[in-house]
Amino acid sequence: MAEPTRLWHPFAAMGKVDGHELVLTRGEGSRVWDADGNEYLDATAGLWFANVGHGRAEIADAVGSQLTKLAAHHIFGDHANEPALALASRVAAMSPVPDAAVFFCSGGGEAIDTAGKIVRRYWALTGQPERTVIVSRRFAYHGTNAYGTSLSGIPAVRDGYGQLVGDVAEVSHDDPADLARVLDELDGRVAAFVGEPMIGAGGAIPPPDGYWPEVERICRDRDVLLICDEVISGFGRLGRWFGCERYGFTPDLITCAKGISSGYVPLGAVIASGRVREPFWDEAAAPFLHGGTYAGHPGACVAGLVNIDILEREQLVERVVELEPLLAELMAPLASLPGVAEVRSVGLAGAIELDPDLLASTPTAGPAAMSAARRHGVITRVLRGVALQISPPFVVTEDELAAMVAGVAAAVEETVGAIA
Ligand SMILES: Cc1ncc(COP(=O)(O)O)c(C=O)c1O
Repeated sequence: MAEPTRLWHPFAAMGKVDGHELVLTRGEGSRVWDADGNEYLDATAGLWFANVGHGRAEIADAVGSQLTKLAAHHIFGDHANEPALALASRVAAMSPVPDAAVFFCSGGGEAIDTAGKIVRRYWALTGQPERTVIVSRRFAYHGTNAYGTSLSGIPAVRDGYGQLVGDVAEVSHDDPADLARVLDELDGRVAAFVGEPMIGAGGAIPPPDGYWPEVERICRDRDVLLICDEVISGFGRLGRWFGCERYGFTPDLITCAKGISSGYVPLGAVIASGRVREPFWDEAAAPFLHGGTYAGHPGACVAGLVNIDILEREQLVERVVELEPLLAELMAPLASLPGVAEVRSVGLAGAIELDPDLLASTPTAGPAAMSAARRHGVITRVLRGVALQISPPFVVTEDELAAMVAGVAAAVEETVGAIA
């Protein structure tokens, strides 16, 4: 008997993974290689993060020199370091949030926990401590920390852990009227509404036209803070630096991670508006006793700075705008494949949703198609059990994009053919 793997994988049924690990050893641009030398097109950019693509020595070298200079210290209290100060200024200046301050952490789930605590504390500090409820959307994914789990709109992610964070409520993912109804029912008790500009892990679902400005109006009318979870959409994926810019609204807080460092070093952040930070900045305010050991880690912040340099220098957000119609055009014919219910995409984020009847008879169709895609040399993954993801690095070439979509199409045809 082979020794079992000692690596407990996240989001995995270990009984099935043990002995079948895909061990990746190298990445370059939109491609990755496994330990047996097989090459794959990375149609998911890791987990939606490798915006500048794999293998950027420029980021690795900059992080390396920072680590030799000052690997780490903390930024609690009055401590700071140069990369954290520089990245905070840069992100604050480029974000659409007015008069922003940036609170660093190590990933998206931590950013959501941080934003959740900031909004509740904000209302306590400003004389409305009864405003504690945080409202989120059906199909939402906000990570697996406590707040993100409780705010998830995907029951398989949320349920089965007892109560983590209380005072949460869920509304429809695409109907602002439902949000208005719930806010009115909870009259004066709601601290914030949180939503992804485009629902990501829940299935790459773009909002209906006019959805976000209407949500913004509903929140403003009731003085409810608006948290925009840009962990996937931030730093270019939807063809703007921030997804809220694409959809025409201005949140009070933005959570981000992934594309802020393209995943070279774990990094997350909460961008808070002047209004939100003001009571925390007050001379008389008690310290906000929240934050992780690695908040503002110098190496992570250098990775963030160089990543943004690359996105700007190579005009990679503009490249997403250029590639958006091509991805949509390449994906369109997949809608008529047997076993496919719908295809959708925005920016460089796309999903091929499988037919509900097929999934009802064969719930493993998604994972089967994902494995088949791998045999066709494409790494994709299954979103909410129902859709296959295509969200490549921004450096993807036209030919690579076509090959990614073709590989996933072939995998779907093969899988559905084997089931029929
Ligand atoms: C919208 C959104 N929020 C939060 C998270 C959690 O981020 P992390 O996995 O870095 O904790 C994710 C992860 O995919 C996400 O897509």
